[in-house]
Amino acid sequence: MKKEYSSKPDCIKEQWPGMLDMFSWKDLVTAIPSPMLVVTGWKSNGKENACLQSWASFTSDSGEFVCILGYASKNGHMYQSLNETGCCVLNFPSGDIFDLCKKTIENNQFEMDEITASGLTAEKAAVVNAPRIAECFLNIECEFLWEQQNFDKSNNVVIALKAVHFCMDSDRYNHNKLGRYGKTGYLFNLHAPTNPETGKTESDSTGIVELL
Ligand SMILES: Cc1cc2nc3c(=O)[nH]c(=O)nc-3n(C[C@H](O)[C@H](O)[C@H](O)COP(=O)(O)O)c2cc1C
Repeated sequence: MKKEYSSKPDCIKEQWPGMLDMFSWKDLVTAIPSPMLVVTGWKSNGKENACLQSWASFTSDSGEFVCILGYASKNGHMYQSLNETGCCVLNFPSGDIFDLCKKTIENNQFEMDEITASGLTAEKAAVVNAPRIAECFLNIECEFLWEQQNFDKSNNVVIALKAVHFCMDSDRYNHNKLGRYGKTGYLFNLHAPTNPETGKTESDSTGIVELL
C-alpha cells in the first residue's frame, strides 16, 4: 500500500547529533542508491587529493557528457582543488578496492598524498591536470562547468563537470569478461535506509547492479 509523507514522522530520530541537520529524513526514507566514486585532483601544495563521493548523477546534453556532483562540501579539499585547477578525475572503484578508497577519508590531511597513503596508485591523468587512481576500472577526466548553491544557508554546492576524456578497463565493457555490473562493476551508496513507520534505520551499505 502506498503512503503519503510531507513532514518527518516523529519516530525518525537522529542516529548521531546533527544528523538530520546534515541529511534530510526524505533522503533516508527514499534511500535511492547513488553511484560511488572518488574525485581526485592536486592540492595547492602539489599533494594528491582524494574525496569519496556519492549523490552524483550523469547525463548527456547536446552531445556532451555532463557529470553532476550533487553534494560537494565547500569546506573540503576537493572543492578548493577544483576551484584552483578547474579540473578533476572521477574514479570508479569495484568492490575489491573499496576499502582502500574509504581509507582516503582517514588520510585526508592537507600534507598527505591521499591516494598513495591509502595503498592505491596515483598516475597522471591523460588530458587534465590531476592525478587519477590506476586501480579504478573507469577514470573520467573532467573540466569544471558551474556550481550552484541550493539554499542560502547551505555550505555545500552542486557542481557540474564536463567529461573531456575517459580511460576504461576493456574487461569491464566486455560482458563475457568482468563486465560493468555485478560484483566486479559499479558500486552504489545505500545510505541509512529508514522505515518511516518504525523509525528503524539500517546501517549504510554498498550495493551493486544486478541485471533483471
Ligand atoms: C559513502 C560515502 C559517501 C560520501 N559522499 C560524499 C559526498 O557526496 N560529498 C561530500 O562532500 N563528501 C562525501 N563523503 C565524505 C568525504 O568523502 C570526506 O569528507 C572526505 O574526506 C572529504 O575529502 P576532501 O577534503 O578532499 O573534500 C562521503 C563519505 C562516504 C563514506
